[in-house]
Amino acid sequence: MMLVKWLGSVVFLAIGLFTNVLGAYVGVNIGTDVSNMPSASDIVAILRANQITHVRLYDADSHMLKALSKSGIEVIVGVLNEEVLGIGESASAAAAWINKNVAAYMPTTNITAIAVGSQVLTSIPNAASVLVSAMNNLHKALVASDLNFQVKISTPHSMDIIPRPFPPSTATFNSAWNSTIYQILQFLKNTKSFYMLNAYPYYGYTNGNGIFPIDYALFRPMPSVKQIVDPNTLFHYNSMFDAMVDATYYSIEGLNFSGIPVIVTESGWPWLGGGNETDATLENAETYNNNMIRRVLNDTGPPSQPDMPINTYVYELFNEDKRPGPISEKNWGVFFTNGTSVYPLNFSGSGQIIGNSSGVFCVAKDDADSDKLQNGLNWACGQGHANCSAIQPGQPCYLPNNIKSHASYAYNDYYQKMRSVGGTCNFDGTAMTTTKDPSYGSCTYAGSSHSSTRGGFLPPVASGPVSPFSGATSLPVSRIHLLISAAFAALLI
Ligand SMILES: *[C@@H]1O[C@H](CO)[C@@H](O)[C@H](O)[C@H]1NC(C)=O
Ligand SMILES: *[C@@H]1O[C@H](CO)[C@@H](O)[C@H](O)[C@H]1NC(C)=O
Ligand SMILES: *[C@@H]1O[C@H](CO)[C@@H](O)[C@H](O)[C@H]1NC(C)=O
Ligand SMILES: *[C@@H]1O[C@H](CO)[C@@H](O)[C@H](O)[C@H]1NC(C)=O
Ligand SMILES: *[C@@H]1O[C@H](CO)[C@@H](O)[C@H](O)[C@H]1NC(C)=O
Ligand SMILES: *[C@@H]1O[C@H](CO)[C@@H](O)[C@H](O)[C@H]1NC(C)=O
Ligand SMILES: *[C@@H]1O[C@H](CO)[C@@H](O)[C@H](O)[C@H]1NC(C)=O
Ligand SMILES: *[C@@H]1O[C@H](CO)[C@@H](O)[C@H](O)[C@H]1NC(C)=O
Ligand SMILES: *[C@@H]1O[C@H](CO)[C@@H](O)[C@H](O)[C@H]1NC(C)=O
Repeated sequence: MMLVKWLGSVVFLAIGLFTNVLGAYVGVNIGTDVSNMPSASDIVAILRANQITHVRLYDADSHMLKALSKSGIEVIVGVLNEEVLGIGESASAAAAWINKNVAAYMPTTNITAIAVGSQVLTSIPNAASVLVSAMNNLHKALVASDLNFQVKISTPHSMDIIPRPFPPSTATFNSAWNSTIYQILQFLKNTKSFYMLNAYPYYGYTNGNGIFPIDYALFRPMPSVKQIVDPNTLFHYNSMFDAMVDATYYSIEGLNFSGIPVIVTESGWPWLGGGNETDATLENAETYNNNMIRRVLNDTGPPSQPDMPINTYVYELFNEDKRPGPISEKNWGVFFTNGTSVYPLNFSGSGQIIGNSSGVFCVAKDDADSDKLQNGLNWACGQGHANCSAIQPGQPCYLPNNIKSHASYAYNDYYQKMRSVGGTCNFDGTAMTTTKDPSYGSCTYAGSSHSSTRGGFLPPVASGPVSPFSGATSLPVSRIHLLISAAFAALLI
């Protein structure tokens, strides 16, 4: 036992060293459609207080760029969509833009990239023809200022340019854009830049009309029967986020490019929505963003590119209450403008960031179907890795010897260990949470104040056969800033 523990700590130490070498990061987008926007210096104070090391601005606001100087924070600045045309048509306009918005602040403000427009191909398709020339003109201006090694140029794309992202292995760009995207990829490759992707599992999930389990969108561990598998590669996708990133890598490969890293310039989850936006909740937003941060900081890539970390920018710092559209559109912020976080969130990805389970237990429902309970019990003690030794004959929680009591013990043990990484108290609808400590006599439930059990187990390993199911939905594209197409087909049973 001691040997096993010791080996375990060596393995964790090794993983720790490895991740520091690769060093994936999570940054944040700072949108400005905010009615009581704090001052630039207050914003930087909020960033520093939360150990945020990377930000993306949608513009090149001089107050922000000054306030970010000597902060150690790396900055992506943005060319507005309405500026793309002018810069694309005039090399001198591009040079002026670089001088005014980049060169003037370097190196004290660490500008590392320029995002040219926002989802230009899908939001202002008529400017697509000058997008590449805008990127080229800006690059030449950087070269002239000797800044091209520090500052990379790219352009953020929505998932809408990949009409059928699932299965990822067969995803391709909308072929109407082939020649533009080919030129963009060639530019990215030649300048050693990266592909900027806006990836929104929120829209993939809500527009999927029930095709996908919400756990898949929220990075929650899923039982093997719900795992989503690419039938061509047999890669298991633990999250829609991973599938979107991989669909992008495969689409790039489809145009014969490789070695262009994908960074996620926007991803997040709204915490409030209208009556018809029932998935925009505080709990889902907290789960999504915390799990996304953990997932990114584990430094691995998506299944097809395991060594390419997925650097990601959370959308977004503050609610943009002045944005038009449904209520959810205005509620993606992770901080209030006074600097308080909307829900517990830790950009270091450490600790039990979902919130601990102190005082909440997971037990079998009184009226649960006994076959379902048996399945849930089997799953919890098997793939769920619950410690079921206490419900074995002769052990403290064996009596009363009935399925409901045993399932309660196992469900709760799983829940206490997995809740911090998104494990839920559901078990096919047979479980519920309660604040009443179910411990009795010498039978002590995990999470009880009398218990020493701690959380932090690794998620259950995906395994088992999956039956194919296919059904693609194509959705109209309407929203400018955020919408992604949910034209996914899933493998589910
Ligand atoms: C995030 O977690 C780290 C490590 O546990 C801790 O040092 C830091 O204070 C936390 N930050 C916030 C804002 O809670
Ligand atoms: C700016 O960021 C780059 C990329 O991480 C880093 O290599 C460089 O040291 C930073 N420069 C300054 C002045 O902090
Ligand atoms: C676009 O490129 C794909 C390969 O990714 C190819 O299969 C398709 O035929 C091309 N379409 C056009 C219109 O050139
Ligand atoms: C990619 O390369 C293959 C093999 O060289 C070739 O058949 C195919 O036409 C190329 N596709 C594109 C989009 O250039
Ligand atoms: C939700 O309701 C609002 C206002 O009634 C409407 O504008 C919006 O289109 C609806 N959204 C969906 C997803 O049905
Ligand atoms: C990192 O995330 C990937 C994708 O979700 C997952 O497959 C892998 O097990 C994770 N690794 C660790 C060490 O948590
Ligand atoms: C910050 O603002 C939020 C939302 O207005 C409010 O609920 C919270 O109490 C404020 N926090 C502080 C410390 O003032
Ligand atoms: C749970 O959170 C509360 C409040 O933050 C804290 O006092 C308590 O020690 C935590 N419990 C565990 C088991 O981490
Ligand atoms: C399982 O629980 C028992 C007590 O019920 C404890 O003695 C044992 O150490 C636990 N096993 C593991 C691997 O945590």
